[in-house]
Amino acid sequence: MAGDGRLVVISNRVAVPKARGAAGAQGGLAGALNAALKDRGGIWFGWSGEETEIPSETIHLDRTDGVTTATIDLSAQEVEEYYNGYANSTLWPLFHYRIDLAEFEKRTGQVYERVNERFAEGVSPLIDAEDLVWVHDYHLIPLGERLRARGLKNRLGFFLHIPWPPTRLLTSLPFHERLVNSMLTYDLIGFQTEEWLSSFLHYCENELGAEVDAQSGRVTFEGRTTTARAYPIGIDWDHFQAQGQTDDARRAQKRLLASTRHRTAMIGVDRLDYSKGLPERIDGIGRFFDEHPERARDLVFIQIAPPSREDVESYQQIRALLEQKCGQINGARSEVDIVPIRYVNRGYSHAELFGFFRAAKIGLVTPLRDGMNLVAKEYVAAQDPQDPGVLILSDFAGAARQLEADGTGALLVNPHSPDAMASAIATALDMPLEERQARYQAMIGTVRDDNVQAWTAEFCKQLASD
Ligand code: F6P
Repeated sequence: MAGDGRLVVISNRVAVPKARGAAGAQGGLAGALNAALKDRGGIWFGWSGEETEIPSETIHLDRTDGVTTATIDLSAQEVEEYYNGYANSTLWPLFHYRIDLAEFEKRTGQVYERVNERFAEGVSPLIDAEDLVWVHDYHLIPLGERLRARGLKNRLGFFLHIPWPPTRLLTSLPFHERLVNSMLTYDLIGFQTEEWLSSFLHYCENELGAEVDAQSGRVTFEGRTTTARAYPIGIDWDHFQAQGQTDDARRAQKRLLASTRHRTAMIGVDRLDYSKGLPERIDGIGRFFDEHPERARDLVFIQIAPPSREDVESYQQIRALLEQKCGQINGARSEVDIVPIRYVNRGYSHAELFGFFRAAKIGLVTPLRDGMNLVAKEYVAAQDPQDPGVLILSDFAGAARQLEADGTGALLVNPHSPDAMASAIATALDMPLEERQARYQAMIGTVRDDNVQAWTAEFCKQLASD
């Protein structure tokens, strides 16, 4: 029966052994897929992260920690036009509701299609007839169609890790019908939340004229039927807890506590990306200090922000803006022995992050738009149940739908409002122990049980059975 075979995962980035460990910079997807492949066996195919002068046919095979990876190099021009270009200067901003930052260049769209064809060419010979094939994220939307064109009959799944935009935003993308039409080649399409799923179904029905059954998520178009569902991704709970027991985690916790002395630590950990709402977050902290100047002596904010996609101009601009805003507040509020904001431009291991999260009494996760946001879940997972910290979470993160718990879990904020953020910080700082414990209890079950293993099992089960 189809689906009894291995799992073949295809994504733009593969956590090749030399890149493993840099968890802070790598983000959630890499850790999630590693865990899935260890569980089921199979292959992980993608870009090696290396650039060559001309496109190369070589496939690099590696087997480490029970996971086989197969990677191809891309040429410098492909990286520029497919990765920096169409994926990260067109689709990423548009799907994060930033049409003002989206660039529409015919050329980058063509190279995006060409790289998807190269992926199909490279991975097809590695796929056995019984394998489940699971493609990830916005870099590879047309890949399913390319694989079908090569005669692949396997069950094909696709998961979108980022939001799906409202229909009228998506229609600003030239050739949007073609992109979505190619997506309908997959047998199963997964989204992080019901909100993104319903925007997708709305587009299929109203723009493509597909037949949509919202209840079952079945979309029928031009004689093909695909199923679209929401599968909220979770963290690798066991791995993260194990990391929390290491010396590295304990040292990181002590180091942070020693450096903040009697002050309360508040932490943010994000890739340096405009979707994460970092300048807006600093404005919220600025507003808090304006309203409570005396508390600049009680509170220290640590923002860990590893640089990301540095060749893309909008990322250079957000970095400059963030540096300027942190500098302004520190200039205005510092004393010889007090600096209210620490801004760190590097990534840390999962063990160190666990220690930092445990030491911080407030976690600030305030993206302007985010598919899920696993940092929010990791912050909760790292807390001491007897004396937990408070999570302040953007209403626009996919994770909000799971962690708000009808107002009894995370403190939800509008990240566009400095007043709302300032007020949430004040509430968190003064929150009594019993309320912190109750809010932690309202969130911890979903963080622990709706984990990455459950997510993978659920998606693969559905993919194999439909
Ligand atoms: O959010 C989408 C995503 O693919 C994450 O899963 C991942 O952590 C991040 O983007 C990585 O971005 P990049 O591969 O461009 O560094």
